[in-house]
Amino acid sequence: MEKRKIKEGIYSVGAVDWDSRMFDNLIPLPDGTSYNAFLIRGSEKTALIDTVDATMTDVILKRLDQLDCRHIDYIVINHAEQDHSGSLPQIMEKFPEAQVVGTAKCKGMLMDLSLVGEDRFLTVKDGETISLGNRTLEFIHAPWVHWPETMLTYLREDEILFSCDLFGSHLATTDLYVSDEGQVHEAAKRYYAEIMMPFRSILKKHLEKLQKYKLSIIAPSHGPIYNRPEFILDAYQDWVSSKPKNIVVLPYISMHGTTREMVKYLVDALVDKGVTVKQFDLAATDIGKLGIALVDAATIVIGSPTVLTGAHPNVVSTAYLANALRPKVEFLSIIGSYGWGGKMVEQLAQMIPNLKVEIIDPVVIKGFPGKNDYKALDKLATGIAKKHKEHGLI
Ligand code: FEO
Repeated sequence: MEKRKIKEGIYSVGAVDWDSRMFDNLIPLPDGTSYNAFLIRGSEKTALIDTVDATMTDVILKRLDQLDCRHIDYIVINHAEQDHSGSLPQIMEKFPEAQVVGTAKCKGMLMDLSLVGEDRFLTVKDGETISLGNRTLEFIHAPWVHWPETMLTYLREDEILFSCDLFGSHLATTDLYVSDEGQVHEAAKRYYAEIMMPFRSILKKHLEKLQKYKLSIIAPSHGPIYNRPEFILDAYQDWVSSKPKNIVVLPYISMHGTTREMVKYLVDALVDKGVTVKQFDLAATDIGKLGIALVDAATIVIGSPTVLTGAHPNVVSTAYLANALRPKVEFLSIIGSYGWGGKMVEQLAQMIPNLKVEIIDPVVIKGFPGKNDYKALDKLATGIAKKHKEHGLI
Protein backbone atom coordinates (compact mmCIF):
# COMPACT_ATOMS: atom_id res chain seq x y z
CA MET A 1 0.00 0.00 0.00
CA GLU A 2 3.06 2.29 0.05
CA LYS A 3 2.07 3.88 -3.27
CA ARG A 4 -1.36 4.69 -1.84
CA LYS A 5 -0.14 6.22 1.41
CA ILE A 6 -0.68 9.97 1.65
CA LYS A 7 0.62 10.28 5.20
CA GLU A 8 0.91 7.97 8.18
CA GLY A 9 -2.68 6.82 8.78
CA ILE A 10 -4.12 8.35 5.58
CA TYR A 11 -4.52 6.09 2.56
CA SER A 12 -6.14 6.15 -0.83
CA VAL A 13 -8.42 3.10 -1.04
CA GLY A 14 -10.37 3.87 -4.24
CA ALA A 15 -10.47 2.20 -7.63
CA VAL A 16 -9.03 3.06 -11.04
CA ASP A 17 -11.42 2.45 -13.93
CA TRP A 18 -9.15 2.11 -16.98
CA ASP A 19 -11.74 0.77 -19.39
CA SER A 20 -14.79 2.97 -19.00
CA ARG A 21 -15.33 5.14 -22.08
CA MET A 22 -18.59 6.92 -21.17
CA PHE A 23 -19.67 8.51 -17.90
CA ASP A 24 -23.40 8.58 -17.14
CA ASN A 25 -23.71 7.34 -20.77
CA LEU A 26 -23.25 11.01 -21.64
CA ILE A 27 -19.66 12.13 -21.23
CA PRO A 28 -16.80 10.59 -23.24
CA LEU A 29 -13.94 9.30 -21.08
CA PRO A 30 -10.95 9.09 -23.45
CA ASP A 31 -8.60 8.37 -20.52
CA GLY A 32 -10.90 6.36 -18.21
CA THR A 33 -11.52 7.64 -14.69
CA SER A 34 -11.12 6.77 -11.03
CA TYR A 35 -13.38 6.66 -8.00
CA ASN A 36 -11.25 7.81 -5.11
CA ALA A 37 -11.93 6.99 -1.49
CA PHE A 38 -9.70 7.61 1.52
CA LEU A 39 -9.18 5.90 4.88
CA ILE A 40 -8.19 8.16 7.78
CA ARG A 41 -7.06 6.70 11.06
CA GLY A 42 -7.11 9.01 14.06
CA SER A 43 -5.84 8.14 17.53
CA GLU A 44 -9.39 7.21 18.59
CA LYS A 45 -11.63 6.86 15.54
CA THR A 46 -11.40 5.81 11.91
CA ALA A 47 -13.20 7.42 8.98
CA LEU A 48 -13.69 6.43 5.38
CA ILE A 49 -14.14 9.36 3.00
CA ASP A 50 -16.50 8.37 0.16
CA THR A 51 -16.87 4.94 -1.39
CA VAL A 52 -16.68 3.83 -5.05
CA ASP A 53 -18.89 2.88 -7.96
CA ALA A 54 -20.86 -0.33 -7.37
CA THR A 55 -18.96 -2.05 -10.21
CA MET A 56 -15.74 -1.68 -8.21
CA THR A 57 -16.89 -2.68 -4.71
CA ASP A 58 -14.46 -5.61 -4.67
CA VAL A 59 -11.54 -3.19 -5.14
CA ILE A 60 -12.33 -0.96 -2.15
CA LEU A 61 -13.04 -3.97 0.06
CA LYS A 62 -9.68 -5.47 -0.95
CA ARG A 63 -7.84 -2.19 -0.23
CA LEU A 64 -9.43 -2.02 3.24
CA ASP A 65 -8.42 -5.64 3.88
CA GLN A 66 -4.85 -4.88 2.78
CA LEU A 67 -4.77 -2.16 5.44
CA ASP A 68 -6.12 -4.64 7.99
CA CYS A 69 -9.10 -2.35 8.50
CA ARG A 70 -11.48 -4.10 10.93
CA HIS A 71 -13.41 -1.16 12.28
CA ILE A 72 -14.78 2.03 10.74
CA ASP A 73 -16.58 4.64 12.86
CA TYR A 74 -17.66 7.04 10.12
CA ILE A 75 -18.31 6.68 6.40
CA VAL A 76 -18.36 10.24 5.12
CA ILE A 77 -20.42 10.63 1.94
CA ASN A 78 -19.57 14.00 0.42
CA HIS A 79 -21.87 13.41 -2.56
CA ALA A 80 -24.72 10.95 -3.07
CA GLU A 81 -24.16 10.20 -6.77
CA GLN A 82 -23.76 6.51 -7.34
CA ASP A 83 -20.15 6.63 -8.54
CA HIS A 84 -19.27 7.55 -4.92
CA SER A 85 -22.05 5.84 -3.01
CA GLY A 86 -22.63 2.69 -5.08
CA SER A 87 -20.60 0.40 -2.82
CA LEU A 88 -22.01 1.90 0.40
CA PRO A 89 -24.44 -0.96 1.18
CA GLN A 90 -21.67 -3.59 1.06
CA ILE A 91 -19.31 -1.46 3.16
CA MET A 92 -22.05 -0.79 5.70
CA GLU A 93 -22.70 -4.52 5.87
CA LYS A 94 -19.02 -5.29 6.43
CA PHE A 95 -18.71 -2.52 9.06
CA PRO A 96 -22.07 -2.61 10.90
CA GLU A 97 -20.77 -0.23 13.58
CA ALA A 98 -20.12 2.59 11.07
CA GLN A 99 -22.32 5.68 10.88
CA VAL A 100 -22.87 7.33 7.50
CA VAL A 101 -22.10 11.06 7.62
CA GLY A 102 -23.39 13.71 5.21
CA THR A 103 -25.67 16.68 4.73
CA ALA A 104 -29.42 16.44 5.40
CA LYS A 105 -30.04 16.54 1.64
CA CYS A 106 -27.50 13.76 1.13
CA LYS A 107 -29.37 11.61 3.64
CA GLY A 108 -32.61 12.09 1.71
CA MET A 109 -30.97 11.26 -1.59
CA LEU A 110 -29.23 8.14 -0.27
CA MET A 111 -32.56 6.97 1.17
CA ASP A 112 -34.27 7.68 -2.18
CA LEU A 113 -31.61 5.56 -3.86
CA SER A 114 -32.20 2.78 -1.26
CA LEU A 115 -28.55 2.89 -0.28
CA VAL A 116 -28.94 3.71 3.41
CA GLY A 117 -31.53 3.50 6.19
CA GLU A 118 -32.35 6.47 8.44
CA ASP A 119 -30.96 4.78 11.57
CA ARG A 120 -27.39 4.64 10.28
CA PHE A 121 -27.15 8.26 9.16
CA LEU A 122 -25.51 11.14 11.04
CA THR A 123 -26.42 14.54 9.59
CA VAL A 124 -23.78 17.27 9.78
CA LYS A 125 -24.24 21.02 9.42
CA ASP A 126 -21.98 23.44 7.58
CA GLY A 127 -18.83 23.99 9.67
CA GLU A 128 -19.57 21.09 12.04
CA THR A 129 -16.65 18.91 13.10
CA ILE A 130 -16.07 15.32 14.12
CA SER A 131 -13.01 14.39 16.17
CA LEU A 132 -11.03 11.27 15.34
CA GLY A 133 -8.81 11.89 18.39
CA ASN A 134 -5.70 13.58 17.10
CA ARG A 135 -7.38 14.44 13.79
CA THR A 136 -10.47 16.57 13.08
CA LEU A 137 -12.87 16.41 10.18
CA GLU A 138 -14.56 19.70 9.30
CA PHE A 139 -17.52 19.62 6.93
CA ILE A 140 -17.96 22.44 4.44
CA HIS A 141 -21.34 22.50 2.74
CA ALA A 142 -20.86 23.22 -0.95
CA PRO A 143 -24.14 22.75 -2.81
CA TRP A 144 -24.06 22.19 -6.56
CA VAL A 145 -20.62 20.71 -6.88
CA HIS A 146 -22.10 18.62 -8.32
CA TRP A 147 -25.60 18.06 -6.84
CA PRO A 148 -27.52 20.17 -4.27
CA GLU A 149 -26.44 17.94 -1.38
CA THR A 150 -22.68 18.09 -1.87
CA MET A 151 -20.16 18.95 0.83
CA LEU A 152 -16.38 18.95 1.17
CA THR A 153 -14.43 17.46 4.07
CA TYR A 154 -11.38 19.25 5.47
CA LEU A 155 -8.89 17.34 7.59
CA ARG A 156 -7.65 20.20 9.75
CA GLU A 157 -4.39 18.99 11.25
CA ASP A 158 -3.12 17.66 7.91
CA GLU A 159 -4.54 20.53 5.80
CA ILE A 160 -6.11 18.10 3.31
CA LEU A 161 -9.32 18.97 1.49
CA PHE A 162 -11.37 15.99 0.32
CA SER A 163 -13.34 17.75 -2.39
CA CYS A 164 -15.24 14.89 -4.08
CA ASP A 165 -16.29 15.98 -7.61
CA LEU A 166 -14.94 19.52 -7.19
CA PHE A 167 -11.45 19.82 -8.78
CA GLY A 168 -11.78 16.28 -10.18
CA SER A 169 -10.50 14.94 -13.47
CA HIS A 170 -11.50 11.87 -15.42
CA LEU A 171 -8.09 10.24 -15.69
CA ALA A 172 -7.07 6.67 -14.99
CA THR A 173 -3.55 6.52 -13.57
CA THR A 174 -1.56 4.55 -11.01
CA ASP A 175 0.02 7.80 -9.83
CA LEU A 176 -1.40 9.00 -6.51
CA TYR A 177 -0.36 12.60 -7.17
CA VAL A 178 -0.46 14.72 -10.33
CA SER A 179 2.69 13.87 -12.27
CA ASP A 180 1.95 15.60 -15.58
CA GLU A 181 0.25 18.96 -14.98
CA GLY A 182 -0.42 19.52 -18.71
CA GLN A 183 -2.31 16.24 -19.00
CA VAL A 184 -4.25 16.81 -15.78
CA HIS A 185 -5.05 20.41 -16.76
CA GLU A 186 -6.83 19.18 -19.90
CA ALA A 187 -8.60 16.33 -18.08
CA ALA A 188 -9.70 18.65 -15.25
CA LYS A 189 -10.88 21.29 -17.73
CA ARG A 190 -12.96 18.67 -19.57
CA TYR A 191 -14.40 17.68 -16.19
CA TYR A 192 -15.08 21.30 -15.23
CA ALA A 193 -16.80 21.99 -18.57
CA GLU A 194 -19.13 19.04 -18.33
CA ILE A 195 -19.87 18.92 -14.60
CA MET A 196 -19.08 22.25 -12.95
CA MET A 197 -19.53 24.97 -15.59
CA PRO A 198 -23.35 25.13 -15.28
CA PHE A 199 -22.81 26.22 -11.65
CA ARG A 200 -20.09 28.81 -12.36
CA SER A 201 -21.57 31.64 -10.28
CA ILE A 202 -22.05 29.36 -7.24
CA LEU A 203 -18.56 27.98 -7.72
CA LYS A 204 -17.08 31.47 -7.44
CA LYS A 205 -18.59 31.73 -3.95
CA HIS A 206 -17.25 28.31 -2.95
CA LEU A 207 -13.76 29.28 -4.13
CA GLU A 208 -13.97 32.46 -2.03
CA LYS A 209 -15.08 30.44 1.00
CA LEU A 210 -12.11 28.09 0.57
CA GLN A 211 -9.62 30.95 0.75
CA LYS A 212 -9.67 30.89 4.55
CA TYR A 213 -8.45 27.28 4.63
CA LYS A 214 -4.79 26.38 4.52
CA LEU A 215 -4.52 23.67 1.89
CA SER A 216 -1.48 21.43 1.53
CA ILE A 217 -3.28 18.74 -0.45
CA ILE A 218 -6.53 18.64 -2.42
CA ALA A 219 -7.83 15.10 -2.83
CA PRO A 220 -10.80 14.93 -5.23
CA SER A 221 -12.79 11.77 -5.89
CA HIS A 222 -11.81 11.53 -9.56
CA GLY A 223 -8.27 11.62 -10.94
CA PRO A 224 -4.93 12.17 -9.22
CA ILE A 225 -4.64 14.26 -6.07
CA TYR A 226 -2.95 17.65 -5.92
CA ASN A 227 0.10 18.21 -3.70
CA ARG A 228 0.42 21.63 -5.34
CA PRO A 229 -3.16 22.86 -4.76
CA GLU A 230 -2.49 26.28 -6.32
CA PHE A 231 -2.22 24.53 -9.71
CA ILE A 232 -5.90 23.55 -9.73
CA LEU A 233 -7.12 26.54 -7.68
CA ASP A 234 -5.53 28.96 -10.19
CA ALA A 235 -7.02 27.00 -13.10
CA TYR A 236 -10.49 27.17 -11.53
CA GLN A 237 -10.14 30.92 -10.87
CA ASP A 238 -9.41 31.36 -14.58
CA TRP A 239 -12.28 29.13 -15.70
CA VAL A 240 -14.93 30.73 -13.46
CA SER A 241 -13.82 34.29 -14.25
CA SER A 242 -16.39 36.40 -16.08
CA LYS A 243 -14.09 37.54 -18.86
CA PRO A 244 -13.95 35.26 -21.91
CA LYS A 245 -10.99 35.06 -24.29
CA ASN A 246 -10.58 36.13 -27.91
CA ILE A 247 -11.92 32.81 -29.19
CA VAL A 248 -14.72 31.80 -31.55
CA VAL A 249 -15.97 28.24 -31.14
CA LEU A 250 -17.43 26.98 -34.38
CA PRO A 251 -19.35 23.69 -34.16
CA TYR A 252 -20.78 22.76 -37.55
CA ILE A 253 -21.93 19.94 -39.76
CA SER A 254 -22.20 19.78 -43.53
CA MET A 255 -24.17 17.41 -45.75
CA HIS A 256 -22.96 18.31 -49.25
CA GLY A 257 -20.04 20.63 -48.54
CA THR A 258 -21.85 23.99 -48.67
CA THR A 259 -21.80 24.72 -44.95
CA ARG A 260 -18.19 23.45 -44.84
CA GLU A 261 -17.27 25.96 -47.57
CA MET A 262 -18.85 28.77 -45.54
CA VAL A 263 -17.02 27.61 -42.41
CA LYS A 264 -13.66 27.54 -44.22
CA TYR A 265 -14.20 31.04 -45.57
CA LEU A 266 -15.36 32.48 -42.25
CA VAL A 267 -12.50 30.87 -40.30
CA ASP A 268 -9.93 32.43 -42.67
CA ALA A 269 -11.64 35.82 -42.44
CA LEU A 270 -11.70 35.69 -38.62
CA VAL A 271 -8.05 34.64 -38.38
CA ASP A 272 -7.11 37.53 -40.72
CA LYS A 273 -8.75 39.86 -38.21
CA GLY A 274 -6.81 38.45 -35.26
CA VAL A 275 -9.48 36.13 -33.83
CA THR A 276 -8.65 32.58 -32.68
CA VAL A 277 -11.10 29.96 -33.96
CA LYS A 278 -11.75 26.44 -32.67
CA GLN A 279 -13.64 24.47 -35.30
CA PHE A 280 -15.51 21.22 -34.58
CA ASP A 281 -17.06 18.93 -37.19
CA LEU A 282 -20.07 17.55 -35.31
CA ALA A 283 -20.10 14.44 -37.49
CA ALA A 284 -17.06 13.18 -35.60
CA THR A 285 -16.23 15.48 -32.68
CA ASP A 286 -15.65 14.49 -29.06
CA ILE A 287 -18.12 16.69 -27.16
CA GLY A 288 -15.65 16.84 -24.29
CA LYS A 289 -13.22 18.74 -26.55
CA LEU A 290 -16.03 21.07 -27.56
CA GLY A 291 -16.87 21.59 -23.88
CA ILE A 292 -13.23 22.49 -23.11
CA ALA A 293 -13.30 25.12 -25.88
CA LEU A 294 -16.58 26.58 -24.57
CA VAL A 295 -14.99 27.31 -21.17
CA ASP A 296 -13.07 30.30 -22.59
CA ALA A 297 -14.92 31.30 -25.78
CA ALA A 298 -16.31 34.81 -26.29
CA THR A 299 -18.37 33.81 -29.35
CA ILE A 300 -20.11 30.74 -30.73
CA VAL A 301 -20.86 30.47 -34.43
CA ILE A 302 -23.09 27.50 -35.25
CA GLY A 303 -22.88 26.07 -38.77
CA SER A 304 -25.73 23.94 -40.10
CA PRO A 305 -27.48 22.93 -43.27
CA THR A 306 -31.28 22.98 -43.24
CA VAL A 307 -32.84 19.55 -42.79
CA LEU A 308 -36.61 19.21 -43.10
CA THR A 309 -37.04 22.95 -42.35
CA GLY A 310 -34.79 22.97 -39.25
CA ALA A 311 -31.18 22.57 -38.14
CA HIS A 312 -29.34 19.25 -38.55
CA PRO A 313 -30.09 16.97 -35.53
CA ASN A 314 -26.40 16.94 -34.48
CA VAL A 315 -26.51 20.75 -34.34
CA VAL A 316 -29.76 20.65 -32.34
CA SER A 317 -28.13 18.31 -29.83
CA THR A 318 -25.08 20.59 -29.54
CA ALA A 319 -27.21 23.72 -29.07
CA TYR A 320 -29.11 21.91 -26.31
CA LEU A 321 -25.84 20.92 -24.63
CA ALA A 322 -24.31 24.41 -24.90
CA ASN A 323 -27.47 25.89 -23.37
CA ALA A 324 -27.30 23.40 -20.49
CA LEU A 325 -23.58 23.99 -19.83
CA ARG A 326 -24.05 27.80 -19.64
CA PRO A 327 -20.60 28.93 -20.79
CA LYS A 328 -19.66 32.61 -20.35
CA VAL A 329 -19.95 33.22 -24.10
CA GLU A 330 -21.15 36.74 -25.01
CA PHE A 331 -21.92 36.62 -28.75
CA LEU A 332 -23.53 34.10 -31.05
CA SER A 333 -24.19 33.77 -34.75
CA ILE A 334 -25.39 31.11 -37.16
CA ILE A 335 -24.24 30.26 -40.65
CA GLY A 336 -25.54 27.68 -43.10
CA SER A 337 -27.60 27.08 -46.18
CA TYR A 338 -30.96 25.82 -47.35
CA GLY A 339 -32.37 24.43 -50.56
CA TRP A 340 -35.85 25.91 -50.63
CA GLY A 341 -36.70 27.35 -47.18
CA GLY A 342 -36.74 26.72 -43.45
CA LYS A 343 -36.71 28.19 -39.98
CA MET A 344 -33.30 27.08 -38.72
CA VAL A 345 -32.31 30.43 -37.19
CA GLU A 346 -35.57 30.84 -35.27
CA GLN A 347 -35.38 27.23 -34.07
CA LEU A 348 -31.79 27.53 -32.77
CA ALA A 349 -32.37 30.97 -31.22
CA GLN A 350 -35.24 29.51 -29.17
CA MET A 351 -33.02 26.69 -27.90
CA ILE A 352 -30.49 28.83 -26.04
CA PRO A 353 -32.36 30.87 -23.38
CA ASN A 354 -29.61 30.23 -20.78
CA LEU A 355 -26.95 31.86 -22.95
CA LYS A 356 -26.99 35.58 -22.27
CA VAL A 357 -25.65 36.37 -25.72
CA GLU A 358 -25.95 39.16 -28.23
CA ILE A 359 -26.87 37.65 -31.59
CA ILE A 360 -24.72 38.90 -34.45
CA ASP A 361 -26.61 38.80 -37.78
CA PRO A 362 -26.66 35.19 -39.05
CA VAL A 363 -25.64 34.35 -42.62
CA VAL A 364 -28.02 31.71 -43.94
CA ILE A 365 -27.98 31.44 -47.73
CA LYS A 366 -29.78 29.62 -50.53
CA GLY A 367 -27.61 27.04 -52.27
CA PHE A 368 -23.82 27.32 -52.66
CA PRO A 369 -22.24 30.67 -51.65
CA GLY A 370 -21.83 33.34 -54.34
CA LYS A 371 -20.09 36.71 -54.30
CA ASN A 372 -22.63 38.45 -52.08
CA ASP A 373 -22.66 35.54 -49.64
CA TYR A 374 -18.88 35.72 -49.20
CA LYS A 375 -19.29 39.45 -48.59
CA ALA A 376 -21.85 38.67 -45.88
CA LEU A 377 -19.38 36.26 -44.27
CA ASP A 378 -16.68 38.97 -44.38
CA LYS A 379 -19.12 41.32 -42.68
CA LEU A 380 -19.84 38.72 -40.01
CA ALA A 381 -16.11 38.23 -39.35
CA THR A 382 -15.65 42.01 -39.12
CA GLY A 383 -18.59 42.29 -36.75
CA ILE A 384 -17.24 39.57 -34.44
CA ALA A 385 -13.72 41.05 -34.41
CA LYS A 386 -15.20 44.48 -33.64
CA LYS A 387 -17.15 43.10 -30.67
CA HIS A 388 -14.04 41.33 -29.35
CA LYS A 389 -12.05 44.60 -29.66
CA GLU A 390 -14.77 46.64 -27.95
CA HIS A 391 -14.68 44.16 -25.04
CA GLY A 392 -10.89 44.36 -24.74
CA LEU A 393 -10.30 40.80 -25.89
CA ILE A 394 -8.02 41.62 -28.85
FE1 FEO B 1 -18.45 11.82 -9.41
FE2 FEO B 1 -21.27 13.75 -9.40
O1 FEO B 1 -20.28 12.19 -9.21
